[in-house]
Amino acid sequence: MDRLKNKVALITGGARGLGASIASHFFNEGANVILCDVNINDAKKKAKELNGIAYYMDVSDSENVSEIFNKVRLKFKQLDILVNNAGINGFEDREDLLNDRIKINNHQSKEFVETGKIKSHFDVTVNMSDEEWHKMISIHLNGTFFCTREALKIMNNQHEASIINMASVLGTTGGPSSPHYSAAKSAVLGFTRATARELASRNIRVNAIAPGYIDTDMTCRLGDIKNLVKLATPMKKFGTTDDIAWAAVYLASNESNFVTGQTISPNGGFVMSQ
Ligand SMILES: NC(=O)c1ccc[n+]([C@@H]2O[C@H](COP(=O)([O-])OP(=O)(O)OC[C@H]3O[C@@H](n4cnc5c(N)ncnc54)[C@H](O)[C@@H]3O)[C@@H](O)[C@H]2O)c1
Repeated sequence: MDRLKNKVALITGGARGLGASIASHFFNEGANVILCDVNINDAKKKAKELNGIAYYMDVSDSENVSEIFNKVRLKFKQLDILVNNAGINGFEDREDLLNDRIKINNHQSKEFVETGKIKSHFDVTVNMSDEEWHKMISIHLNGTFFCTREALKIMNNQHEASIINMASVLGTTGGPSSPHYSAAKSAVLGFTRATARELASRNIRVNAIAPGYIDTDMTCRLGDIKNLVKLATPMKKFGTTDDIAWAAVYLASNESNFVTGQTISPNGGFVMSQ
């Protein structure tokens, strides 16, 4: 309780999933929460529950981002925490693509077990449109940049703030059916380290969270891939939104005062680092 007392926190993609859970934990720790999302109806509902405020924001639209941060500056006069969390996995309106990826995954496993050889192939990169590629990069990478740039216009004079960027284990391991997602998340890690160095002199800490597979709307349609992921995870399960939100509370609070440029990866052992 009170680990974030009187702090003002803006969370993108706060309408549901990891963003909503982070907002709830921040609120429980005493923060004022601002939820920004393209899903304004759910963002408003969540904000009401948390005594906070919601804004329509498309993080990939720099004008829209700038307009909302201006409102935040005028209303709150401070911003202590930014969580760049909004994201997509590229399958939102593409059930066909998702089913195809699940099918290939199953075929590859079966072929390998039965014959030791793989005859089915993903062919994701060769078939990816410019539009799919740009959308993924725009939301994850451009969005993180646009929001950070605007947040700094408020944070720079405060001499204390925390920025948390949502990455993914797939930014490190790569994902066989998500070159655009992995590229975007990997770039977010590079951006995290560069801004951490740049902003350290102002006592603005920048860190990333790279979740493993977590039960949210984003992962609920993965079908048989879920069991393959669990099998490859030493803890043999998906994580919960709480598992990520607690990491965010730590990075947002003074408990992590000496932590910057780092990546925390709650992932059940799916990826292990030094
Ligand atoms: N769930 C997982 O297993 C997992 C694992 C690793 C990383 N992540 C990352 O965590 C973040 C949250 O994922 P989640 O599982 O909660 O997903 P989710 O789909 O449940 O929630 C994502 C939220 O982002 C919002 N959003 C999408 N595009 C937006 C845009 N252009 N502008 C503003 N808001 C936008 C959506 O409306 C939604 O509310 C994402 O960045 C995701 O890539 C998730």
